[in-house]
Amino acid sequence: MKKRRLGRTGLQISEIGYGAWGIGGSEWMGAQDDESLRALRRALDLGVNFIDTALAYGRGHSEELVGRAVREHGGEIVVATKVFPKNLTWPAREGVPVSEVFPAEHVTRCCEKSLKNLATDRIDLLQLHVWRDEWLAEDGWRNALQALQAAGKVRFVGISVNDHAPQTAVKAVSSGLFDSAQVIYNIFDPTPADALLPACLKHDIGVLARVPLDEGGLTGMIRPDSVFPEGDFRNDYFAGDRRAQVFERTERLRALMGSEAETVAELALRFCLSHEAVTTVIPGMRRIATAEANAAISDGRRLSPALLEKLEAFAWPRNFYA
Ligand SMILES: NC(=O)c1ccc[n+]([C@@H]2O[C@H](COP(=O)([O-])OP(=O)(O)OC[C@H]3O[C@@H](n4cnc5c(N)ncnc54)[C@H](OP(=O)(O)O)[C@@H]3O)[C@@H](O)[C@H]2O)c1
Repeated sequence: MKKRRLGRTGLQISEIGYGAWGIGGSEWMGAQDDESLRALRRALDLGVNFIDTALAYGRGHSEELVGRAVREHGGEIVVATKVFPKNLTWPAREGVPVSEVFPAEHVTRCCEKSLKNLATDRIDLLQLHVWRDEWLAEDGWRNALQALQAAGKVRFVGISVNDHAPQTAVKAVSSGLFDSAQVIYNIFDPTPADALLPACLKHDIGVLARVPLDEGGLTGMIRPDSVFPEGDFRNDYFAGDRRAQVFERTERLRALMGSEAETVAELALRFCLSHEAVTTVIPGMRRIATAEANAAISDGRRLSPALLEKLEAFAWPRNFYA
């Protein structure tokens, strides 16, 4: 497993990370804890040393599973988690003051809960789960994060950028206040490459490429007649004719990728890792098979410039979350 430096933190983390939203079992239905733990353990055994979770994922359940797997593994695993927005609004809305979203006492309380769920005394990377650049001017959240760092409860701090809105975080990554940025970056949404990723490179900010597989859309496994479990958020995300649209696009991707990738999922992960600003890509993988397939692609090979140019035609501006 290849590692990359997480920006100015200096941490060396695996270029394939583990996205732990799905195993929380709240929005992704059908996760079984024993299967999730097996997949997580397998990923760690294969060299994955970075896990992204959040207090909001299954109300702490994902953190509990992550804490358990990390303790059992016993190695040096870097765990990132997140403070949820107090107003429970994803993505953050324009005009809503940060005092309603991340008041200082909420940041502190969430961190304490995460420490407990993870059963640890220090969080490697604590991220704000939503972000808007206009919040930089206020300092309540900042004082709370700095106090947690001073107390030794948090090593590094980061943001999770609003869905499909990388322009709302360029000032944050240039501010010197954060060590990392987590952003949706995939073949369908390459817009972070316009300004956010160059700013991260310039300011030595680590980048976590999230939703690299478009919630499954970029795996090639979603077909016009795919069915998701009742209550699963993908029923909305892939509502109407979106499954057919996704299928049509992934079939074209499959025809294009030639010998550079064996599956659409591999192509999608390699796309993220082909950008020099990206530190790690964090696919969700609740099954051993996906953990193994994804860990196997870390070999340092990037997609060719010619293929990357062809992929530009697959940019697909839309916000299925909205
Ligand atoms: N606001 C935020 O901060 C935010 C929002 C969303 C996500 N995230 C983070 O980003 C992570 C990744 O996003 P995500 O989990 O939502 O979606 P994703 O990684 O884009 O897609 C996950 C889906 O792809 C499947 N998959 C993974 N590898 C595969 C492979 N090699 N072949 C076929 N299918 C494969 C998974 O299957 P199985 O799970 O069944 O194995 C799962 O159904 C999250 O887990 C979370 O850590 C953060």
